[in-house]
Amino acid sequence: MSLTTLIHQLPKAELHLHIEGTLTPELMWCLADKHGITLPYKNIEEIRQAYLFEDLQSFLDLYYAGADVLRDEDDFFELMWAYLCRCNEQNIVHTEVMFDPQTHLHRGIEFGVFMSGFTRAIDKAKDEFGISVYLILSFLRHLPESDAMETLHIAQPYLDKVHAFGLDSSELGHPPSKFERVFTRVRELGFKIVAHAGEEGPPSYIWEAIELLKVDRIDHGVRCQEDQALLDHLKEHQIPLTVCPLSNLKLCVVSDMKQHNIKWLLEQGLRVTVNSDDPTYFGGFLNENYQAIVEALDISAEQLKQLVVNSIVSSFLPQEDQTRIITLIEKIYQAYAIE
Ligand code: ADE
Ligand code: ZN
Repeated sequence: MSLTTLIHQLPKAELHLHIEGTLTPELMWCLADKHGITLPYKNIEEIRQAYLFEDLQSFLDLYYAGADVLRDEDDFFELMWAYLCRCNEQNIVHTEVMFDPQTHLHRGIEFGVFMSGFTRAIDKAKDEFGISVYLILSFLRHLPESDAMETLHIAQPYLDKVHAFGLDSSELGHPPSKFERVFTRVRELGFKIVAHAGEEGPPSYIWEAIELLKVDRIDHGVRCQEDQALLDHLKEHQIPLTVCPLSNLKLCVVSDMKQHNIKWLLEQGLRVTVNSDDPTYFGGFLNENYQAIVEALDISAEQLKQLVVNSIVSSFLPQEDQTRIITLIEKIYQAYAIE
């Protein structure tokens, strides 16, 4: 069995995935046509060719513009359904999916429209594939905290469908401390918390996410390498990092996959996981992210297994579900190891 086959066969969890970042050029084209929207591209190939980014902001500008083709309940269903079909193909048995309500509310689309599209697809995937899906409601950090508070208020009737809250969008200039009050409220309501930090932002943003927002996981976090005390803290408390290798390459966080620090972080004893972030914009879903680091960084089968186990233990799944999946991972890995 090759490492590529092992990547495919291991049951995996994905913990850092923006549903708006799974919009394919084909679906964008089709929905633009359906709603009579004129895109600034002549064809699907031109959309694909526009996916060249120099930093996070250059990507976000295009990503928010692309999301404008999502208008009705069916569009949100199609978007989620297409991603969950991909999960089924890639042996992703559990996924924790971020969505950005403010992107849609600000365009006049009501909360119930995207939530019912998402939950219809999630229920269908549960029935047909046995995949479990948790939703993470993410606040946009380039907007004021008052807008996040207002969003939390609007989301109230739907909170039984939400497992956790997150923080994403333009990192530089928008530290986690800007959102301390809203995340205090979220914590009081009993939700898990994640936040993007240390993607482009400095280690101090990761400290703020830990100490002020009291996050359960850090999204990205790759700049922790610059601060030894932070590395020690992340290791001691086994705070998971949801690392996204192809995203880091496409957004020029690293200049070459061979320079990526994910293997080094794993070898330091940090709880790192592999994820796809915005797969249709960055050139690969989850298995392609594993494949990219295995090829560039000479990751062993045992390290690959550790990354996959980390994805399960870093998830918000109940303990008994985690144990069941890890037993399966160990069985598949043993079959590989004795070959
Ligand atoms: N929203 C979607 N992808 C993101 C990323 N990589 N960083 C911050 N916000 C995002
Ligand atoms: Zn992200």
